[in-house]
Amino acid sequence: MKQVLDIPAELSGIQQWVLDGLVAVTDEIERALHSDVPAVAALCKQVEQFRGKMLRPTLVLVSGAACGASTDEPPTTELLKLAAVVEMVHMATLVHDDVLDEAEIRRRSQTINDKAGNEAAVLLGDYLISASFRLCASLDDPEPSRLIGKVSMELCEGELLQIQNRDNLSIDEATYFEILEGKTAALVGACTRLGSRAGGASQTIQNSMDVFGRSIGSAFQVQDDLLDLLGTEDVVGKTLGRDLQKGKLTLPLIHHLGNLSHESRARSLTLLENASETRAEATGAKAKAHTNELVQSLKESDSLEYARTTAKSLIERAKSALLPLDDTPARSVLQLLADAVLTRDR
Ligand code: IPE
Ligand code: IPE
Ligand code: MG
Ligand code: MG
Repeated sequence: MKQVLDIPAELSGIQQWVLDGLVAVTDEIERALHSDVPAVAALCKQVEQFRGKMLRPTLVLVSGAACGASTDEPPTTELLKLAAVVEMVHMATLVHDDVLDEAEIRRRSQTINDKAGNEAAVLLGDYLISASFRLCASLDDPEPSRLIGKVSMELCEGELLQIQNRDNLSIDEATYFEILEGKTAALVGACTRLGSRAGGASQTIQNSMDVFGRSIGSAFQVQDDLLDLLGTEDVVGKTLGRDLQKGKLTLPLIHHLGNLSHESRARSLTLLENASETRAEATGAKAKAHTNELVQSLKESDSLEYARTTAKSLIERAKSALLPLDDTPARSVLQLLADAVLTRDR
C-alpha cells in the first residue's frame, strides 16, 4: 500500500492496521509453503523473498474493515488466511505466466523459469496453488474454497482464451475484456468479495464488492498492458514488451487497428510486425526505434488515450459500487486504491 498510495494523515490508523496485517499474512504464507524437501524449500524461499505490491491481500483486509471487521484489534485469523490464500493463487499464476511469456525478470529479480527452468517453474506453480487450496480448506466457512476453485478455473479460461487469440489481428474489444475478466478481474473480485464476507457483509454488499473488485481488476490489467508498451523495466521491475512479442493484442492496438483507413493499415501492420519481432532481442537502438514508431502511431490515433479513458470509466464503475457502504476510513482507502490503479507506474 505504501508503494502505490499517498495516505492522508486521517487514514494513518487503518494504514498501520493493514501494514501490520500484511506482516502476519507473510508469516501465514511462509507456514503454508513449508516443505521438508530441501529443493522445494529453496524454490519457495526464492519465490517468497521478493514481494510485490501485495494488492490482493491488501484488498481482502481493507474490504473486511470496510464491511464491519474491527480495526481496533489485529485482523482475524480468517481475514489473514484469506489474504494469504489469494496472494498464493496470484504467486502461482505469476510463476506460470512467466513460463508462458518466457520472462526473465519479476519483482526486480530473476524469474523461477529463468533460474531453475520451465519444469521446476510449472511444478512450483502447482505447489503454490495446492498450498493455497489446502489453507483455504482449513477455514470453517466452505464458501471461500468454492469461490477460489471457481476463480482458478476462470483464470485458466482467460489464459487459454488468450492463447487461442494469439496473433489474431482482428480480435475485438469484447474478447479482450473476456480475457481480462478471466485472467485478472475474477481473482480481484474474489479478494473484495471474500474480505467483505469475512467482515460480515450481507449478500447484497458482497455482490457490490465483487463488482468493485472485478472493475478495478480489469482497469488494473488495462494499465498493466499500457505499462507493457510504455513502461521501463527498471521502474516496473519485470520483463516488458512481451505482449507484442507473444502476439497478444492489447486495448491500444485493438483500438488502433479497428480505426484505420484502408491506406494506413499496411503501414501500421508493418510497424506492428517490426515492433513484435525486434523487441525480443532487447535494448538495441533499432528495437527501441521500432517500438517508439509504433507508440507514436498509437498516439496519433488517440489509442493510448482511448485505453486510459476506458480504464478510467471502469474505476468510476468500481467507485459507484462502494456507495452502499457506510462512509468509513476503510471505504476511503478503497476509493484511493481504485484511483491509484490509474496512476501506477509499477
Ligand atoms: C501482475 O500483478 C499480474 C497482473 C495481473 C497484471 P501485480 O502487478 O499485482 O504483481 P505484484 O504482485 O505487484 O508483483
Ligand atoms: C497475466 O498478464 C497476468 C496474470 C493473471 C498472471 P501479464 O502477462 O500481462 O502479466 P505480467 O505483465 O507478466 O505481470
Ligand atoms: Mg506475463
Ligand atoms: Mg503485463
